Amino acid sequence: MTMSNLAYDAPVDGGDTSQQDIAAMQALRPVPRISIQAFCETEGVASPVRLAGDDRRMAKAHLKVHMGGIATAIEFYQSAPTPNLILLESRSEPKQLLEQLAQLSEYCDPSSKVVVIGHYNDVGLYRELIRSGISEYVIAPVSMTDIVSVVSSIFVDPEAEPIGRSIAFIGAKGGVGSSTIAHNVAWAMSSLFKSEVVVADLDLAFGTANINFDQDPAQGIAEAVFSPERVDEVYLDRLLAQCAEHLSLLAAPSTLERVYDFDPDAFSQLIDTAQRSAPLLVLDVPHIWSGWSKSILVKADEVVITATPELANLRNTKNMVDMLKRLRPNDPPPRLVINQAGVPKRPEIGPTDFSEPLGITPMAVIQFEPLLFGNAANNGRMLGEMDAKSPIVGIIDEIAHVLTGRSEIKIKKKAGLGSLLGKLSRNKK
Ligand SMILES: Nc1ncnc2c1ncn2[C@@H]1O[C@H](COP(=O)(O)OP(=O)(O)OP(=O)(O)O)[C@@H](O)[C@H]1O
Ligand SMILES: [Mg+2]
Repeated sequence: MTMSNLAYDAPVDGGDTSQQDIAAMQALRPVPRISIQAFCETEGVASPVRLAGDDRRMAKAHLKVHMGGIATAIEFYQSAPTPNLILLESRSEPKQLLEQLAQLSEYCDPSSKVVVIGHYNDVGLYRELIRSGISEYVIAPVSMTDIVSVVSSIFVDPEAEPIGRSIAFIGAKGGVGSSTIAHNVAWAMSSLFKSEVVVADLDLAFGTANINFDQDPAQGIAEAVFSPERVDEVYLDRLLAQCAEHLSLLAAPSTLERVYDFDPDAFSQLIDTAQRSAPLLVLDVPHIWSGWSKSILVKADEVVITATPELANLRNTKNMVDMLKRLRPNDPPPRLVINQAGVPKRPEIGPTDFSEPLGITPMAVIQFEPLLFGNAANNGRMLGEMDAKSPIVGIIDEIAHVLTGRSEIKIKKKAGLGSLLGKLSRNKK
């Protein structure tokens, strides 16, 4: 039960579902592809959490239950990335609970949400927790319905912000490697952070995501874009091809039967739906300047421009950066990746000379490595699958960290939660 609505209506048994509960459950929409980790101190809480994980509304979410409370979580997250949601059971009294949470927040990524299942029915504590960034405080005993409802209230609420962060990748010229980098960064995000990633290949005529991920789906992005009125989460699900444990693809048809002239808003419904269904959306935008490609770049949470170190790339990047800065005055400038650097005998513009007129520092410089890239492309494998130790794979991993707002895995940034809890304890002094 949550303090806010069910505090005095506790179910007696953690596992049973009453008629009332069943009715409440039926009103809930499916939970998106989020990762959830629970740390439970008692079987009385662990068991309804496990049952919740088996509920059909949670079928897309990845839920893992650990025994052990906040102390176990702190130890665990010293070396592992935090998921989209952490469920923590704690029998500690309020003061100690707040202290433990402050400690945990040191290892918690800012985007992770936290729900506490406590044993103290204390309105003061509830208010303090909510103020300090905890998404909900639920008092034990809890039922399976309570768990599904609380997860749902955080991630499914139609009023809530879409959970997904969209990252658009575009090349400054054709063939610079923008798609290859987009796919590899998406793959790195899904495997490093165990976070669900959807890749949308927007190059309908010539897209290569299907080749790079070795997929041949019957349907894909074209179905969605030619019948936008049908696009909802269920429909989108059917169009996604699973490429890896946490990675799915909206593949391009890569055929020329149709032509692909779209309205500026043609992809809006699709992008919006995808952002409601997974925490990360990678948009592989072809190198064109049209109403719809411009609109996608303007609306994305992040834009990554890939360029090779040559004059035409510099000119195009400059135009794109200036335009995007103008159209997105309240956002940071696009990110720059310099790719295919060091082609033998090719005169190139050095990274400093390249970035100086743009006013942005490249987030990465990737060397020209035809053997590695060629083998990966021809075998439908990611670079990390071909040669996990290659320095280029290390750079791709770094890009994945930066684009998801994570610093290095080991030295994590203090979470929003932590700074808030810090402020709280200072105020009390
Ligand atoms: N650093 C690199 N070294 C060597 N080859 C590379 C590198 N980066 C990309 N490539 C290769 O360059 C080719 C073009 O890559 P890709 O299709 O990703 O580019 P693009 O910018 O998306 O092109 P398009 O304009 O067709 O969308 C691919 O064969 C890819 O394997
Ligand atoms: Mg491409």
